[in-house]
Amino acid sequence: MIEKIEKYIVEVSNLVANTKEEAENLRIKYIGRNGILNDLFDEFKTVPNEQKRSVGQAINTLKNNIQEKIDELISSTKKLNLEIKIDVTLPGDSLKLGSRHPVNIIKNRIVEIFSHIGFSISEGPEIEDDWHVFSALNFPENHPARDMQDTFFIEKNPDILLRTHTSSVQVRVMEKEKPPIRTISPGRVFRNEAISARSHCIFHQVEGLYIDENVSFADLKQTLLYFAKEMFGENTEIRLRPSFFPFTEPSAEVDITCTCKGKGCNLCKNTGWLEILGCGMIDPNVLELSGIDSKKYTGFAFGMGVERIAMLKFGIKDIRLLFENDVRFLKQFE
Ligand code: PHE
Repeated sequence: MIEKIEKYIVEVSNLVANTKEEAENLRIKYIGRNGILNDLFDEFKTVPNEQKRSVGQAINTLKNNIQEKIDELISSTKKLNLEIKIDVTLPGDSLKLGSRHPVNIIKNRIVEIFSHIGFSISEGPEIEDDWHVFSALNFPENHPARDMQDTFFIEKNPDILLRTHTSSVQVRVMEKEKPPIRTISPGRVFRNEAISARSHCIFHQVEGLYIDENVSFADLKQTLLYFAKEMFGENTEIRLRPSFFPFTEPSAEVDITCTCKGKGCNLCKNTGWLEILGCGMIDPNVLELSGIDSKKYTGFAFGMGVERIAMLKFGIKDIRLLFENDVRFLKQFE
């Protein structure tokens, strides 16, 4: 009987199964109710006592080997079945690419336009002191912009606050660098304002600063005309309206021609013009406060709201859309 068992041991070690059914049939053949193993156990009863020990050991080895082999075959055919289900010739799912946020698209474009004419990029902190946001920029002590209405204060006396404009970076650059200075500063600014379709308490600005000998208002106008044409198209014209900022003299607000050409549209309220930025010649007092000789140097500065430009460019009617991060909105800028 021992020889018969040993033959089975060899046979079992060579078993193969290509499908789940084949593996299952082998299981029934060897360890099923009427399988080979049970027959052997029946036969074992007739084995003479003195052989029981060695035959018993051989049957146990066979039993363990069979169980192991069948388990192995079943799991390998399962894997095989899985592999068959994967059709490698099917076209793959395309990767979903994200898109840039419209504010970033416009900010990058502004940076690109000015870098073509030699402007570098400067950055400054969002949490600022009174000096860099107001005092060094010629804001009188009781100027309404310092009021709680507009400024988010973090600490009072000495004042620590969230910058209300990127002109604070202008001050930091003037303190640190010697003219000629030609730089733009993109960044986030904060104002304690009611949120509406037209204004938000957080938005982005790009500030521009140019200081050298003999910088004139004509340079300012030409620089802004170049920017307007690059940003809004070759046929764009600009118009400068007198305005006021504490840190520039003279100051102006800049409008561009509306695409309706004044024929009448909601966007420009039938005026034909859209305001895009504020600018002016840097007040000599501001230059001196930052240690720049105002007899030798002159300069201009301008500041624009990135959201405003994005809204004009993309025809976005409500600034809040730019902060809600609704994917259905953002998807349109892919
Ligand atoms: N800082 C001004 C604002 O926030 C914009 C500005 C910048 C105006 C530079 C003139 C010169 O409204």
